[in-house]
Order: sequence, then structure tokens, then C-alpha cells
Amino acid sequence: MLLKLETERLTLRLANSNDLAHIHHLHSFPEVDQYNTLGIPKDLKETETIMLPLFDANIAREKYTFIIQDKTTQSFIGMAGVFPGKPKYKSAEIWYKILPQTWGKGYATETSKELIRFCFDTLEVHRVEAGCAVGNVASIRVLEKSGMQREARRRQLLPLAAGWSDNFEYAILDVD
Ligand SMILES: CC(C)(COP(=O)(O)OP(=O)(O)OC[C@H]1O[C@@H](n2cnc3c(N)ncnc32)[C@H](O)[C@@H]1OP(=O)(O)O)[C@@H](O)C(=O)NCCC(=O)NCCS
Repeated sequence: MLLKLETERLTLRLANSNDLAHIHHLHSFPEVDQYNTLGIPKDLKETETIMLPLFDANIAREKYTFIIQDKTTQSFIGMAGVFPGKPKYKSAEIWYKILPQTWGKGYATETSKELIRFCFDTLEVHRVEAGCAVGNVASIRVLEKSGMQREARRRQLLPLAAGWSDNFEYAILDVD
């Protein structure tokens, strides 16, 4: 479990069952759910059911779910992750979620850049992808500040709380 990534202000370490209360808290905000398809879990048990396979995937290094912490205080800031694709394709998908009270400080961008670096340098993929709902202007900005390019718009892909949403697909290549 000793995989730990560091940026100027943040530590990203693999999530485990001790983090469930923080994860549940993060997922309980309607503004965190607004452009995500997860839905707000009704109780901690539901969060646990969602998260247990991801904790197992962390141990197996099949997927990577990180807790984002303040590097100095270790306080919880959010979550982020990497889903590697099939080995032959040498690609991976990244995602991130930040506690609303810490939005606008550049944490998601710092996280996203580090995930991209991890994908290229450690996982040795050649392509990193991310998707976001077309209305999620903050996430669009994060992806573009991270150097990703918009490649596609998929229509009515996402079942959001407010209804169907189109999804933008972004990617960056190791040669970009
Ligand atoms: C999207 C999210 C991760 C951004 O986190 P963050 O730490 O606030 O992001 P950053 O501070 O790195 O960058 C946000 C950028 O969006 C901009 N932004 C935020 N809201 C905006 C708005 N309504 N209109 C225009 N720009 C906006 C900010 O100004 C900033 O850009 P700047 O640095 O050029 O000023 C956060 O809002 C979040 O967790 N949302 C809920 C989960 C989610 O949607 N995750 C992404 C799924 S694709």
C-alpha cells in the first residue's frame, strides 16, 4: 500500500477502508454530485459497498483510487483516481473530486497534472483520457489547464441527477 504521490501542496495516497467517513462526506454534497453519475449514497453502508471493490483494486494495483491530502496538515481535500485500460492499448483514464470548501485553489489542477505524470512515467501509457459533463465548466478548465485536448462530444451519455447530459472527452498523449 506504499504508493504515494506528492505535489507542491498535496499528498496523494491509496485509499483504504479507514477513509470511508471522509469519502462518504465528500459524496454527500449535491454540488459534488451535480455532474457525476454516482448519486448521493444514502448512508455509510452504501458508500462502503461502492468503495470496497476499489480498495481491493488498490491492493491488486488494478485501479488506483487516491485520497488527496494537504501535504502539511494531512487534512482531507478530496479523491482522485486512475483506471488503466487494457495493456495493449497503453492508455488510462483519470478522475478527481474535491471538497467544495477548497474549490478554486488549484488543487484539482495540481492533482490532475500529477496523475498524468504518474500515468506516463510509472504506468508507461502513451495516452491519458478524461471525460466530463459539458456543463462542468470547472472540470473543463482543469483538463485544459492540464494540457488535455478536447477530442469528442458524446451525446446524452451521462445520467445526471438533472437528466441526460452530453459528455466531452479529453486526452493527452506522451508526445504532446
Ligand atoms: C471540478 C473540480 C474538481 C474543480 O476543482 P478545483 O480544485 O476547484 O479546480 P481548480 O482550482 O484547479 O481549477 C478550477 C478552474 O475552474 C474555474 N471555474 C470554476 N468555476 C467556474 C465557473 N462557474 N465558470 C468559469 N470558470 C470556473 C476556476 O476559476 C479555475 O480556473 P482558473 O485557475 O483559470 O481561475 C471541483 O469543482 C469538483 O470536485 N467538482 C465536483 C466533482 C467533479 O465534478 N469532478 C470532475 C468530474 S469530470
